[in-house]
This record gives sequence, structure tokens and C-alpha cells, in this order.
Amino acid sequence: MIVLDREHKIFTLHTQNTTYQMKADQYNVLLHTYYGSRIDHFDLSGLIQCGNRSFSPNPNEAGRSRDYSLDVMPQEYSTCGVGDFRLPSIELELPGGSHTADLRYAGFHLEKGKTTPEGLPGFHGGEDEAETLVIFLKDSAAQVTVELYYGVFESFDLITRAVRVVNHGAETVRLCRCASLCLDFLQSDLDMITFNGHHLTERCPDRGSLRPGIQSVGSVRGISSHQHNPFVMLCGRDADEDTGICYGAMLLYSGNFEAAAECSQYENSRLVMGIHPYHFCWTLEPGGTFTAPEAALVCSPNGFGEMSRQYHRAIRKHLLRDPYSGRRKPILVNNWEATYFDFTADRLVEIAREAAALGIELFVMDDGWFGSRNDDNRGLGDWQVNLEKLPGGLEALVPRIQELGMKFGIWMEPEMVNEDSSLYRAHPDWVLHVPGRSPSRGRGQLVLDFSRRDVRDSIYDQMKKILSSADISYLKWDMNRSLTDVWSASLPAHRQGEVFHRYVLGVYDLLERLHRDYPHILIEGCCGGGGRFDGGMLYYTPQIWCSDDTDAIDRLRIQYGTSFCYPVCTMGAHVSAVPNEQNGRITPLETRGITAMSGAFGYEMDLGKCTAEEKRKIRCQVERYKAYSDLIHNGDYYRLSSPFSDSTYTAWEQVSPDRRQALVSVVQGCTNAAPPFYTLRLKGLNPAFQYQTDLDDALYSGASLMNAGYPLPQMQGDYLAFQIFLKAVE
Ligand code: GLA
Repeated sequence: MIVLDREHKIFTLHTQNTTYQMKADQYNVLLHTYYGSRIDHFDLSGLIQCGNRSFSPNPNEAGRSRDYSLDVMPQEYSTCGVGDFRLPSIELELPGGSHTADLRYAGFHLEKGKTTPEGLPGFHGGEDEAETLVIFLKDSAAQVTVELYYGVFESFDLITRAVRVVNHGAETVRLCRCASLCLDFLQSDLDMITFNGHHLTERCPDRGSLRPGIQSVGSVRGISSHQHNPFVMLCGRDADEDTGICYGAMLLYSGNFEAAAECSQYENSRLVMGIHPYHFCWTLEPGGTFTAPEAALVCSPNGFGEMSRQYHRAIRKHLLRDPYSGRRKPILVNNWEATYFDFTADRLVEIAREAAALGIELFVMDDGWFGSRNDDNRGLGDWQVNLEKLPGGLEALVPRIQELGMKFGIWMEPEMVNEDSSLYRAHPDWVLHVPGRSPSRGRGQLVLDFSRRDVRDSIYDQMKKILSSADISYLKWDMNRSLTDVWSASLPAHRQGEVFHRYVLGVYDLLERLHRDYPHILIEGCCGGGGRFDGGMLYYTPQIWCSDDTDAIDRLRIQYGTSFCYPVCTMGAHVSAVPNEQNGRITPLETRGITAMSGAFGYEMDLGKCTAEEKRKIRCQVERYKAYSDLIHNGDYYRLSSPFSDSTYTAWEQVSPDRRQALVSVVQGCTNAAPPFYTLRLKGLNPAFQYQTDLDDALYSGASLMNAGYPLPQMQGDYLAFQIFLKAVE
């Protein structure tokens, strides 16, 4: 609910459990007055105290008064060069060469519903689901307006932010920084949690107290990156899974980003998040506009778990565009780890046949089916079927897969080209490169200049021919390197600072075309696993291959970290062979199944090599997943322990919205002799219900399971796992 106090220029955004407030003050500076637990209508600007602070200048309108300074007031969208020396949200280069921005409140506009920013991903909601507030800020000297967009999804405690800048002047202005979100706090006794890693180890949480100065994470790789995720949290020092205040900030963007927190001189703090200012400079001609990507905030007064569940619910309902919405997605088998590049049509059909017999429903043909792609040094860019490997093309292969009762899916990496390809030989100038420099290779490949429409059109033509040539129901859109040599032959020197962002817009444009032309195709995003696992991609690809690391034990950590923002239905997770390809670890099949089941489930192995006993187990796994998939994907997710701090076991739980069913998954670490007996306290149940468990067929009350716990069985062996299904009985 958005409450307006026009007389005092106070804007209060209420969600079910939180309140967010802004106020335009006597100088029309838009102050941020509050964000936290829900407080009923009240002017919270009284919390902001003013006083003479040396070396913090006073705006001209303040006259002789030294008590007011932008440098110490909590701002809604921070400026630069006119008195606030903390992290700026916007930086304008004016025609005279100054780098300043001075924004004052100039009006507002209210709408029902929530639409997505044009050409960009975003949360969407109908008129009875969300409200949008637009606040107009104006820099009169620069003749630039900044529109701040707030989408309010009340029952999800979710507030979206986006920013649009318009040049109303007669001269060109350059935008050197344009954050999506600025969030000021009167206090600085907060911790920041970021999600970090590298290829094969993505999104490991790291928590640290804010220190004086600026601390930041980000990416200048052209992708949101394996290294740092564009989702960060701030929380009270005592906050944990179940208690304390915490704030999530998610940027719906798949390119360079920065999330920076500053603890300033008088122990206030600020979070600014948006496109990374490195090599970003957007030219705004007279009348020109720029839209910064959307960010989404969730505040939870009750710890991290509730914040995550709100993100999960909101992402599932208002972000994902999933052709299987409301239906179970097919269980897939992918041939990558089974064959790599070395396959024939018969071999693929054999893998599919084995899979179909076990109840698997979708066969995905990974890399290696096109051009001269027999290893990863050639072929990218030539999206024509390699007829030596697949005689008769997809027209012959796909019906053979379908005869087995399976759907067919395919892998592509549209943004890339190998030098050893017909495409590159015909268009060497289509790659990102700096004149006079030889571009760096990554995985032996170069990056196509997706900021160019002609390049995108040509790739899309090739994609369409493939996607229309057979009955294809799934596409894995891969991307396997970071961007370097970022320069585009299509733009003049003064616009090269636009290329990084235009590249991302180009990727979104092609994905949007796929949505329009092939709405039935399920697209799975991938970037060397989870190098582009972000809210931007999720708008186009409702699931993303979570990591190239398929080891079940490593995956516990990766999926745990990912779950802080992203729901399990978005995490591509497969059972693979042992010893594991990435780390050599041997884990039981049951453990691999239970871990992968908390994701978009599939297999990535040659099932023909499994023993009869293994096949029996896989058949059971598949059946179990089919039975519980609604609970797993639409239930509320509870982290019961952390694989980072507890080596004994990792446990998590899904609870149905009516709290009548729950599925608890437990994966044990390395074992030792005569271990202690453990009890596991469950969460999210109805204390008044009686629950029957399938593991011991006993009855427990919800209250006892949550307060006293469930007695975990002892098992001998490393990395064993089990699930407990609980059902409320009348
Ligand atoms: C990337 C992906 C893998 C696989 C290979 C194919 O590494 O993450 O899953 O598709 O590319 O080359």
C-alpha cells in the first residue's frame, strides 16, 4: 500500500511486514526517512537530526545556517559534487565539463500494477497485485530529470527500484554513473553479506561488519560473474536465520555491476547498487533517456530465512516466465559429461533409451552437434548440424528421441565465435576487439559484438532455422567466457562507454525474441555453470545451470548460498557419475539424487553404464521426485543447517503453503566412529498439527518437532543422505 501525504511530501510504502518512507524536505531534497519493520502512518523524518558539521558544506538555499548539509542527511538517491561526499548514485558530466548532479523533488505519479522497464528484465504484476510510485527529481541547472520508480508487492515484502534519466536540455549530457538503488541508514552497526566464489564454486556467503569507508563487490567481466553475485544483504549484527532485521538487495542485471556499502564519518551507512561505473558512460543527446536496470529489495524483520522465502515466492510468481508455470517440468538427461564432444546419433539415442526406461522425460543434446565442433577450439558461430555426426540432421534425430516418449532439447552458445569457423572467416570484424590489439581468447573463443543489431540478427536467423527445424522443447543458452577488448566498430569513440551495457541489452533482446517466437521452449541459462546466475537472466531463462561442479557435496554449499535469494526451481541440478568429474569424490547415488532433487532436476551421465541395482535406485529417485516436485518447488524453503559452519550434516526442508506436508533432506558429512546422537529441529510446521513421518512411521506434534527436534538416525559411511516426508494427520 502506498500512502501519500501531499501536504508534507511524505511517501510511505507499506508491505505486509515492512515500511519504507521518503520525504521531500524544505529544500526539496528527497530524504530517506525509514526502512524496516512495519510502522503505521507516521512522519519518521524526526529521526534525522541536524547540526553544524565542519567540512560538510551547506547548500546555497540554507543561507547563513550551517546546520544543514547533504553530506550527513540520509538521501533517497545520492548526488555528487554539490555537498554529499559519500557514495554517489548518479554522476553527470555537463556540457561545460563539470561532474555534478543536484537533484530536487519535482512531483510524483502513482499507478496501479507494475510493468517491466523497456528492454530490461523486471518484476511484473497486475493491477490488483502491485502498485507503482514514480518520483520525479530535477536538476534545474543541468535540465536533467531523474525518475525514481518504486514497485510495491505488498504480500511479498518486495519493493522494486528502477531509475530513468531524461535530458531535457538543448545540449548533450554524459551519464558517468547511474545506480539503480541507494539505501541510507542512520546507523552503521550492520553486517554485509556477499556471495562469492569462482568457476566451479559459486555464491559462497561471506559476512563481515561494515567498517569505516567503502566496501564493495562487483564485476567488470561483462557478466554478473562466478566471482560475486549481484545479490547482497545488510543485516543487524545479531541477525541469523530466524531472528533480527535483514535487507536483501538484488540487481536484475547480467553484466558489470557494483554493490558498495559505505560507513561514513558520523556512523551512518549507505548501500549503492547498479551498473559498475568502470567503462560506463552514456551520452544523452537532447531528449535522450537512459534506464538503469531494476533492483529489488526485501526487508525481513525475522531473519534471513523469511527474507529468502519472500524472494522465492516473488520470483516464482512475478519474475519467472516459465512455459511450465503451474506444471511439473520434465526430468532431463544431458549427454555432456557422458560423451563430451565424442558422440554419434546412435550413441545419443542409446543414452535417451536408457533414460526413458527409467522415467526420464527430456533428452538434452549438449555441445558438439554443429559445424566442425569436435573440440572446444572450433565451430562456435556455425549453427548448422554436423551431418557426419548426425546424418539427416535434427529432422532425423528428434523423431527417434520422441519415439522413446521423450522431449528433445538442444545446447547453443549464441554470443560466441571460434576463429576456426565460417562465421569468423566471413566476419572477423563482428567480434569485440580494440583496433590495433589482438583480442584475448577465453576457452579458445572470441565474443561476438552483441551490441550490434546486424550481428544479433544474423545469429538469430541461424538459431531460428535450427529451432524451427524440429520439435524442440528446451534450449540451454550457454556463455563461456568473460568479456575483454570491449570496443564496438559500430560506435564512435565518445560512445564506447556504452558497449558493455549495450551488449547486455543485446543479449536480452535476443532472449526476448526467443520468448516471442518460441513461447513453448523452456530456456535454461548457463555461463560455465553459474557465472550469470542473476535476476536479469531469470526473467528470460526460468532456470539456470547452477554450477559446472556436479559433486553432491560441493553442490550443498553452492545451492545453500544460491538459496539466499533464488528459489530452488531456478537451480539446474543433475545427478552425475562417480568419481565426480570435477573433484574425483565418490558419493552414494542416493546422496547425489537428494541434492539434485532440490533443484531443476536431471541426470548428466551415461545411464547405460549403471548396474541393475543403480538403475532400480534411479527409477525410485525419479518416482520420488515426481511425487514431491510440487512440494519441493512451490513449498517454503527452510535452511536447517549451514554446510559452511556444520560439517556433521547439512539439512534443509520444504514445507507446503498449508503446512500439512514437509520434506526434510539430510546429507551427512565425513563420518567418525561412535558419533553423538543428534536431534534436528524442524521449522515452519504448524505447532498444533500432528505429523506422521515415513522414516519411522511415528507421530510427532509440530511443536515438538520444532522445539525438541527429530531424532536423526545414525548411519555408517561418508556422505550418506536421507529424506523424511512428514504429513499432517487429522
Ligand atoms: C559449459 C557448460 C557445460 C557444458 C559445456 C559445453 O562449460 O557449463 O554444462 O554445456 O559448456 O561446452
